Amino acid sequence: MRGKSTEEAMVSSGMNAVEMLKADHRKVEGLFEQFESSTTKREKMKLIKEVINELTLHTKLEEKLVYPILLEEKEEEDMAQEAFEEHHVVKNVLKELSSMDGSEENLKAKMKVLSELVDHHVQEEEKEMFPALEKTGEDLTALGEKISQEKMKLMQRGSGRRSTRASAKSSGRKTATRSISRSTTGRRKAS
Ligand SMILES: [Fe+2]
Ligand SMILES: [Fe+2]
Repeated sequence: MRGKSTEEAMVSSGMNAVEMLKADHRKVEGLFEQFESSTTKREKMKLIKEVINELTLHTKLEEKLVYPILLEEKEEEDMAQEAFEEHHVVKNVLKELSSMDGSEENLKAKMKVLSELVDHHVQEEEKEMFPALEKTGEDLTALGEKISQEKMKLMQRGSGRRSTRASAKSSGRKTATRSISRSTTGRRKAS
């Protein structure tokens, strides 16, 4: 049996949902910073791969476990829809990045645009969405536990890496984000 990786140790550290998602945000920001100062093609490609994996995992977790809670709240519905759309744009860029080999002259520009998209999205999540999530009365510790379990599951399946590669190859594949319906019942606290 292999030992726990740093990542696995982190996801099971008992952080609540918001703390956990913010930690992901900081991690990705760090990767973008490293990319900015990286000099070799090898280093750049390694960082791009990490960004793709991190963002693929993170967006999946939010779409499956966090955004549906806000879609159920009348006043937060528009914000959640907007966040899905922003993920959609981010994923399109990730798809393009995943088919690049490092020789493209627009690689740096593409990463810059991605980092700006992510930065804008993160600002909205942290300034508006997460405070709104806190107000829903959802148990954020339990949600954190759910997120960390789902994260482990996805990481064990290597889902992030595989799905990005697969989606780069089959361009016709639809993103399933919108299928996370409003039909999630029983989440709302009884009023
Ligand atoms: Fe997000
Ligand atoms: Fe996020």
